[in-house]
Amino acid sequence: MIKPETIQKIFDAARIEEVVSDFVTLKKRGVNYIGLCPFHNEKTPSFTVSPAKGIFKCFGCGKAGNSVKFIMEHEHYSYPEALKYIAKKYGIEVEETELSTEEKQQMDERDSLFALNTFISNYFQDNLFNSEEGKAIGLTYFKERDFLESTMKKFQLGYAADEWEAYSKHALANGYSKDSLVKTGLSIDKGNRLMDRFRGRVMFPIHNLTGKVIGFGGRILSSEKSTAKYVNSPESDIYSKSKSLYGIFFARNAIVKHENCFLVEGYTDVISLHQAGIENVVASSGTSLTVDQIKLIKRFTPNITILYDGDAAGIKASFRGIDLILYQGMNVRIVLFPEGEDPDSFARSHTSSELEGFIKKEAVDFIKFKTRLLLDETLGDPTAKVKLIKEIVQTIAHIPDAINRTVYIQECSNLMEIPEQTLMNELNKLLREKYRKNLRQQPDQEIPVETSVKQRISEQMAFNPFDIEEHEKQVVRLVLLYGTEKIKIREIIRDELDEEVVEEHEESVAQYILQNLEDDGIRFENEMYNRIFDEVKGFMKNGNIPDEHYFVNHPDEKLASEAISIIATPYELSANWEKNQIHVKQEEDDLLKTIITTLNPLRTKLISRHLNELREKMKTSTDDAEIFILQQQFFELKKVANEIDKELKRPFDY
Ligand code: CTP
Ligand code: MN
Repeated sequence: MIKPETIQKIFDAARIEEVVSDFVTLKKRGVNYIGLCPFHNEKTPSFTVSPAKGIFKCFGCGKAGNSVKFIMEHEHYSYPEALKYIAKKYGIEVEETELSTEEKQQMDERDSLFALNTFISNYFQDNLFNSEEGKAIGLTYFKERDFLESTMKKFQLGYAADEWEAYSKHALANGYSKDSLVKTGLSIDKGNRLMDRFRGRVMFPIHNLTGKVIGFGGRILSSEKSTAKYVNSPESDIYSKSKSLYGIFFARNAIVKHENCFLVEGYTDVISLHQAGIENVVASSGTSLTVDQIKLIKRFTPNITILYDGDAAGIKASFRGIDLILYQGMNVRIVLFPEGEDPDSFARSHTSSELEGFIKKEAVDFIKFKTRLLLDETLGDPTAKVKLIKEIVQTIAHIPDAINRTVYIQECSNLMEIPEQTLMNELNKLLREKYRKNLRQQPDQEIPVETSVKQRISEQMAFNPFDIEEHEKQVVRLVLLYGTEKIKIREIIRDELDEEVVEEHEESVAQYILQNLEDDGIRFENEMYNRIFDEVKGFMKNGNIPDEHYFVNHPDEKLASEAISIIATPYELSANWEKNQIHVKQEEDDLLKTIITTLNPLRTKLISRHLNELREKMKTSTDDAEIFILQQQFFELKKVANEIDKELKRPFDY
């Protein structure tokens, strides 16, 4: 763990504009900088950097954060990795604390599973390159497969010794718990001892989107059929096979860059293609693609190209799965490799440019591919052809976009020599059927044509008129931005002679707001906001008030990103610069007014919610006495609400 003092030093040293400009060309605009967002494709800059606040925010894609967050997102680094990167940039020496056994146990459970996987992955890598057995068996095997050492290092390939409890013991001796070993599936609990799940296998660590090791695949080296070729980590708290894609961490940048994702079957296909210079590739690891996996790809591109090996039968079996991809509104292309070749073998027996040329030449649109493949089988068989037409139209019906559907109908009409209108009629019939079915069925049955309408309705249903989170957020925002500022408070009090006198004193914004909330007994619904306020209170006890920088650079990542999202509201960093600078001025100019117009709506909301609850109770109660009390409460509250209402409408004369 990096020492807290070091983390503080790093945060103090980091200048957001310097950190970002290593990756993005920034132009000065007023007190801030703007540039083209590195997180999404854009032609006009909406990526804004505020040196004063120490944050970046993109108004196109919504990404926002501090220097560390920027490095984490841009370089796909973990939190400590990003800290170390910035430390290096500013020449700060990173001091780390060795974890005690107790600390290891205290680490949040998921983190401890990740930590164990990393530890074991390093151990496997060390075995591969340094142990006699690893070198003789594992390394030799990989070299026979033409894997370069740099490739092995990149994918963190390793070797698990052919022993019963080698790494289980090693991990225990290093303070990792039996519980973690079993939960990650690395070890199998045999009662009195732990058995290694992976024995005598070359190891492929599986990474999540951010590069953390979530599981392993281990390949046996002998060709004997008695043991499975691959042993994989079982499902765990950190590994879900149906939600992960092998290689996604190494591919994500290239997928965005090339606006396409290649999909292959296995670990070795991914690795060989990388080595051949094709990096936008992931593997579904032997199973058919799931909706979650498709959605994972969809975050980066709407285009998938499936690289197939194998025979027509195998390909046909996968057609249903591809309909799922179309259903997600993605464009699917197919590349069929020659008989007996898979992407891995083809990449090894050809040059990189031959491979690229082949893929480029062979890639065909899925619907055309399917039509052609099936059409060959229907020659001279009219009933088969009718069946084919229905099947193709069914596939086209999965496409959510109407224009795309029409284009496909036209193409297939040409390919199958069937009038366009016939196909169109069939398509409309199917869509109508789906629509009717959809109306009858449960809401999570996804049907492309109507989802948007359905979604809108359900969003409206979910809307809660008493939602107060937005108001809470505005209150927190004021404390973060102006907490240290002083405001003049004028109060009418009674002196010793019971005369009314006007007293004036100064108070900080934080004091004023916190006191007000406390007087009204208001605690936030959002626990993050409560945590922020609790910290402010803690500081105030010692006569200090933390400013926004403290929270933006808070060592607790969740708190920091919450604070960032609060103060990065469009009011502050809007693309519409001129106008909003004026707005900010006004807000600062009359802070007391701003505070009151922010606090009162929160109060009103809380009261109207309470009034509503009382109303409900009055409706259901059968006890006259209870109803009477409820009525009293109701009218009391109503009075308060009216007063607040009046105050909100009254011109400010403080
Ligand atoms: N797979 C698996 N278990 C098996 C066989 C396959 O989990 N018993 C998964 C693995 O993720 C594997 C993928 O399916 O990578 C594709 O299988 P295959 O083509 O047989 O493996 P390759 O990775 O291509 O291995 P190799 O080229 O070494 O045969
Ligand atoms: Mn293979």
